[in-house]
Amino acid sequence: MASIIDGKAIASQIKEEVKAGVGKLADRGISVTLAVIQVGQDPASCVYVRNKKRTCAELGIRSLAYDLAEETEEQELLALIEKLNAQADVDGILVQLPLPAHISEKKIIAAIDPAKDVDGFHPMNAGALATGESGFLPCTPYGVIQLLKRSGIALDGKECVVVGRSNIVGKPMAQLLLRENATVTIAHSHTQNLAAVTRRADVLVVAVGKRQMITKEYIKPGAAVIDVGMHRDDSNKLCGDVDYADVFDTAGAITPVPGGVGPMTIAMLMYNCLESARRRMEK
Ligand code: GUN
Repeated sequence: MASIIDGKAIASQIKEEVKAGVGKLADRGISVTLAVIQVGQDPASCVYVRNKKRTCAELGIRSLAYDLAEETEEQELLALIEKLNAQADVDGILVQLPLPAHISEKKIIAAIDPAKDVDGFHPMNAGALATGESGFLPCTPYGVIQLLKRSGIALDGKECVVVGRSNIVGKPMAQLLLRENATVTIAHSHTQNLAAVTRRADVLVVAVGKRQMITKEYIKPGAAVIDVGMHRDDSNKLCGDVDYADVFDTAGAITPVPGGVGPMTIAMLMYNCLESARRRMEK
């Protein structure tokens, strides 16, 4: 039977640490500031953006909201990013994705000053992670590392398998596990005999975007299973990429959905904002 990795509790702990750090900077006259840009009204984005703004308020981080119309031109968004890049009192710039189809996400992400890229999506920050330089780490994979470390799950020398190869989760996740001295495999939709690969994993991170795809046949007994997926099941309840009930007796530890990886993403975003302000202060 698996022990449950409580992402909500660990995220709360991190948020308390961030709140204390933000308070210390406030005592020195520095107000940690995050600019949050949303283009259009994608319903999921609205929920995420609301949560980000609310969490900022809870931790004493100032958030500047830019809610732009769906029809906003790419040039207009680029001009706003330029303005925020130049604004010395802005520590972080977050452009909520997805963007409307007429705007190039690649171009927008590349326009953000890497020193304010608290999402960790800029190619400079991706490159820094790959080469072991300091930069901003993408919040979801960074959150997964924190979950594992704070749950006492060893990574050094362990077999880790990441299922999924996105720029936002899979690839940086593999890099971060490598940095922890794990033996890392990335599996994806073209991987042959996926279950044979995932059954090697002491730590299995699943970010495939397929509802309840991972069943107990994919799990090595005692493995730690981290579920990055988020879906609705047939009765409209939240569920992940892992079939939680099926896997529960085989895994050694598991993250629930909701209450696993989800809360960690926002906690690490807040952490990155604090870190950006600290770097600004040191300059
Ligand atoms: N859309 C879904 N997840 C994210 C995220 O972590 N950051 C941004 N900017 N957009 C997202």
